[in-house]
Amino acid sequence: YKYKMTNDNNKNILVTGGAGYIGSHTVVEMIQAGYTPIVIDNLSNSSVESLRRVQLITGHEVEFHEIDLMDEQALTNLFQTRTINMVVHFAGLKSVSESVSKPLKYYDNNITGTLILLKVMERFNVKNIVFSSSANVYGAAQKVPITEDLPHGATNPYGKTKMFIEAILQDTCASDPEWNCILLRYFNPVGAHPSGLIGEDPRDIPNNLVPYITQTAIGRRKVLSVFGGDYETEDGTGVRDYIHVVDLAKGHIAALGHLYTKPGCDAFNLGTGRGYSVLEMVEAIRRASGREVPYQIVDRRPGDVGVSYADPSKALEVLGWKANYNQLDMCEHAWKWQSQNPNGYDITAVER
Ligand code: NAD
Ligand code: UD1
Repeated sequence: YKYKMTNDNNKNILVTGGAGYIGSHTVVEMIQAGYTPIVIDNLSNSSVESLRRVQLITGHEVEFHEIDLMDEQALTNLFQTRTINMVVHFAGLKSVSESVSKPLKYYDNNITGTLILLKVMERFNVKNIVFSSSANVYGAAQKVPITEDLPHGATNPYGKTKMFIEAILQDTCASDPEWNCILLRYFNPVGAHPSGLIGEDPRDIPNNLVPYITQTAIGRRKVLSVFGGDYETEDGTGVRDYIHVVDLAKGHIAALGHLYTKPGCDAFNLGTGRGYSVLEMVEAIRRASGREVPYQIVDRRPGDVGVSYADPSKALEVLGWKANYNQLDMCEHAWKWQSQNPNGYDITAVER
C-alpha cells in the first residue's frame, strides 16, 4: 500500500475514520467530486485494505496516515505539514451495546478525541467541519417522521456521545462566527458500493440487521432472531429508515458544498423518509440473493423502538440532497459485497 502525499489545493479534506464503512464510501465520492481526501484512522475498527479498494474503484491514490485522534502531537504534525481546508469527522466507536458496558471508553474516545481534533483545528484556523451524528440522538422520538427540531433524548452512552459532541460543536460555532459545522444525523446505513469492492465488515457477530441477514443467507449464521413480533406495525416487526451507504456518502458531498456558504451550525437528517419492517428486509434480501433466510421471532431487544424514520425534507431544501437508491438496490449491493467477500476484508481477519 502506497502512502501518497497529495498536492496542496483548496479542496483538501481531512477525513477522520476514513478507512471505516461510511468513511471509505465517502472517500470514493469525494474523489469523484474533485476533492482531495487526506485520511486518518487508527484502524481500531478497520483496515487499510478498504482504502486500497477505494483506489481500485477510483483509479486515484489515497493519502493515508495512521493516526489516533487522542494523539494531539501526531495531529498537530499533520496540520503543520499539510494544508487542510475542511474536516469530515467520522472517527468514533459505534456499538450501542459495548457503550453500555464500557461507557468511559466511549466518552473518552469519542468526546476527548473530538475535543483534541477541534483544538488542533482552531490552532491552525481550520474552522469548517462535517460531523457524523446519529438518529440515536432522538431516542424514542415523540412522532414519526422525525424532524430535526424534535428534542434529544439518547438513552445509551453511544447516543449521548453524539448529543454531547453536537452541543460542543454548537457552542463552538456560537462563540466564533468563523466556525461552520454541519451535523448529519444518519438513520440506518446499509448496503455497499455497487462494485462490491467495499462494504461493511463487522467484527464478530453483527448487531445490525442487514449484515446479520446477509451472513445468514450465505450460511455463516444459522438463523436470524427477529427482535419482537408484537410492535404496532403492519407485520408486528420493527420499522426503520434504511439508507444506501452511497446515498449517505453523497450527502457529505452536498454538506461540503454547503459549508462554503458559511452556514454556522446546522443539523440534517439523512434518511429516505420511508420505513421497512424487519420481515420486509428479510424478504428483499431473499429475493436479491436467491437464498433462504431462516428466522425466528423472539422477544423485543431492550432499548429498541417500534418505528423510526426520517423526515429528510430539510436536507433536500437546504443541501439539495435526497436518497436515490431503493430497497432492492440496498439489498442487492449488500449481497454482492457479502458474496464477493464472504469474510469481509480477509486481510483484516489475519490482522485481527
Ligand atoms: P466504522 O467503525 O466502520 O468507522 C469508524 C472509523 O473510526 C473506524 O475506521 C475506526 O478505526 C476509526 N476510529 C475510531 N476511533 C478512532 C480514533 N480515536 N482515532 C482515529 N480513528 C478512530 O463505523 P461507520 O459505520 O463507518 O461509522 C462512521 C461514523 O458514523 C461514526 O462516528 C458512527 O458513530 C457514525 N454513525 C454510524 C452509523 C451506522 O449505522 N454505521 C449510524 C449513525 C452514525
Ligand atoms: C442500531 C443502534 C443505533 C445505530 C443503528 C445503525 C441500537 C439500540 N441502536 O439501531 O444506535 O445508529 O443501529 O447502526 O442498537 N433486528 C432484528 N434482529 C437482529 C438485528 C436487528 O430483528 O439480529 C431489528 C431491530 O429490532 C430493529 C431493526 O432490526 O427493528 C434494525 O436494527 P439495527 O440494524 O440494530 O438498527 P437500529 O436498532 O435502528
